[in-house]
Amino acid sequence: MPDPFYLTTAINYPNGKPHIGHAYEAIAADVIARFQRWMGRKVRFQTGTDEHGLKMARKAAEQGRTPRELADEMASYFRAMDEVLNISFDRFIRTVEPEHHRASQALWQAMEAAGDLYLDRYEGWYSVRDEAYYDESELAGEGDEKLSPQGTPVEWTVEESWFFRLSKYQDRLLDLLRTPGFCEPESRRNEMIAFVSGGLKDLSVSRTSFDWGVKVPGSEGHVMYVWVDALTNYITGLGYPDDTEEWRRFWPASLHLVGKDIVRFHTVYWPAFLMSAGLPLPRTVFGHGFILNRGQKESKSLGNVTDPLELAERFGVDNLRYFLMREVAFGQDGSYSAEAIVNRCNAELANSFGNLVQRTLSMIVKNMNGDLERFEQTPADHELLKQVRKACAVDLPREFEALAFSQGLETWIQAVWACNRYVDDQAPWTLKKTDPDRMKAVLQTLLLAIHDLALALQPVVPEKAAAVLDMLGVDGDTRSHADFERDWFAALVDAGHTIAAPSPIFPRLELPEAESV
Ligand code: ME8
Ligand code: MG
Repeated sequence: MPDPFYLTTAINYPNGKPHIGHAYEAIAADVIARFQRWMGRKVRFQTGTDEHGLKMARKAAEQGRTPRELADEMASYFRAMDEVLNISFDRFIRTVEPEHHRASQALWQAMEAAGDLYLDRYEGWYSVRDEAYYDESELAGEGDEKLSPQGTPVEWTVEESWFFRLSKYQDRLLDLLRTPGFCEPESRRNEMIAFVSGGLKDLSVSRTSFDWGVKVPGSEGHVMYVWVDALTNYITGLGYPDDTEEWRRFWPASLHLVGKDIVRFHTVYWPAFLMSAGLPLPRTVFGHGFILNRGQKESKSLGNVTDPLELAERFGVDNLRYFLMREVAFGQDGSYSAEAIVNRCNAELANSFGNLVQRTLSMIVKNMNGDLERFEQTPADHELLKQVRKACAVDLPREFEALAFSQGLETWIQAVWACNRYVDDQAPWTLKKTDPDRMKAVLQTLLLAIHDLALALQPVVPEKAAAVLDMLGVDGDTRSHADFERDWFAALVDAGHTIAAPSPIFPRLELPEAESV
């Protein structure tokens, strides 16, 4: 049996509605989950919402309601986003769940038993927007204008607090960060090595100035620092501290997928907590880049905040998914705009792949009555099918395994273009009169190619790829990577399958006048 694969996203702060960054991470994680299932692995995929902390408490107070009311409403939008975007999670966790409180307290007690927690007084800078403590040396600006490295305001904080002996783990963390594959991509790993090499201070892990959080066991008036409970979500979802089947099967996580701004929490604090508690460490933390709106961060003051569900509605969920995975080299920052989405999807999905599917199936219906029959491949047919198979069964999976989605899709679209060149070279419309048998061979060669192309595209555009495979007559349960090896075409011929007139699956997108400048 191949290894089980446990994949998580960051859990989102539900202090507002989901934005494009949340959608991007959910989609990327879903592509990974679907890809790994397609490769035959047993996948567990967890996502959810991070509902405690000062940021949530303040936002609720501003709106004159309780944090729980705010969390309930907003968390429902995150779940709805996942539904619309076709996110195939196994578990949506909310940190207000009682079992999450229990898991967080159990982890706390394990760290306490290890002698890693002590009571003291915190005096320093805190950013509520980042829910993060910063050292003076990390800040920019002066006085009240001081800003965190993320550009968020910080406030001077003094209170009694529990501390975690982070400093004790410095050497082990450096070894871990130097372990190939633990922290990716390379640039984030180097940042983290520099951060840890600079020296680690003990971490303040509880708060006394508000109570919206998980109670510190046995310490009246203290709630856990929100990141302590947030990170624990990854093990709560497997049943920790109970010795469940999920726990034994899926921990340690194969991959924590997070944005670049929170790599520090995942590659320094989280492994240190786990080391302290004597638990195994996640295999990989990947810090993806940020998605910008025409090169700018979305913000209320710029008035450029876009609802990802509006984008999905306007362009189609699968088009949005394809665009985000194809346009941006995963790991780097990227930009989106209506015209970039329209151009990319029209050029590659509508005009290239969609057109190939549409022409091929229409010609099979028109010129062969939709009937399939065995045929002899010429070297040209064989050459094309070899190239397409390699792209779909070898190259794309290799790139996706390395989380290089854009490169994987590049090999895929190259294979589509090879098919379109082949149609033009073979000119089946001419063969119809001069050599009808050869025409049939050409059309069916294309059908074989389309099968492979659709099979490989499933993790990225699940609905549209499935619709193509349905039109081909491919069984729903024979669509995994292993099924490249199966002679599906011979099975259809033997079953006397008939291809029906195709319905358009990749219609061209239109750009409203106002935005086409
Ligand atoms: O950080 N582009 O929650 P969050 C791409 N609750 N990704 C982006 C992005 C953008 N423009 N903006 C944000 C938190 N993200 C914590 C996580 S995990 C135990 C706790 C990413 O709602 C961000 O990097 O601020 C993070 O991975 C995720 O969205 C949630 O961000
Ligand atoms: Mg954030």
